[in-house]
Amino acid sequence: MVNIVLFGPPGAGKGTQSENIIKKYGLKHISTGDLFRKHLGEGTELGKKAQGFMDNGKLVPDEVVIGMVGETVKEFQTAPGFIFDGFPRTVAQAEALDELLAKYDTSISCMVMLEVPVEELKKRLLERGKTSGRADDQNEEKINVRIQEYNNKTVPVAEFYAKQNKICRVNGVGTIDSIFAQIEKAIDGHYA
Ligand code: AP5
Repeated sequence: MVNIVLFGPPGAGKGTQSENIIKKYGLKHISTGDLFRKHLGEGTELGKKAQGFMDNGKLVPDEVVIGMVGETVKEFQTAPGFIFDGFPRTVAQAEALDELLAKYDTSISCMVMLEVPVEELKKRLLERGKTSGRADDQNEEKINVRIQEYNNKTVPVAEFYAKQNKICRVNGVGTIDSIFAQIEKAIDGHYA
């Protein structure tokens, strides 16, 4: 099994590049942001718990996120591997993911870190906010909160994977194809 953590700040291109990875490698995509938006759309209890945090650009509490991912992984026991997009976002989530995968005799193969300067992130998100309808893309203030949450709570996750020697840095600025070429190199190393 090959399991990838696709890591990076809001607007780094995680969702965009996940599509390419799914097409080429057939991995199962687990995006916690997409899962929460699905729950929100369906008006579930979990969606209600997450909504206030998401609308304000804050992270949803760990126990809610970890429970949701645990259920999702169970559904895909026969998967050839996973792309985790937007998860883990705290060290507690990274520890929980290692434990969860160990139950299925597997582990994270590599963490692909998309590096994009803050000004470019803001530009992308404000542009997307014009048409996406995402409450958290609507103005610069909310985008700043998301970036702050990333810096305060998510950046330490990189250290967690650095200690395991699993980080692969990718320049996230450029054409979608040129960025994917770097990601392919990182992933192919784990099929060798
Ligand atoms: P989530 O949905 O994960 O949002 P995010 O991390 O803020 O990421 P985005 O979807 O905004 O960006 P992306 O990196 O996927 O970039 P994309 O490909 O879309 O999370 C939303 C919220 O849910 C969180 O704030 C939190 O409240 C909650 N949540 C989710 N997971 C959680 C967790 N684990 N713990 C706690 N809370 C959690 O691209 C962005 C834009 O840029 C697009 O318009 C795209 O077309 C464009 N673009 C992409 N690549 C390029 C390129 N190379 N050049 C130019 N433009 C590009």
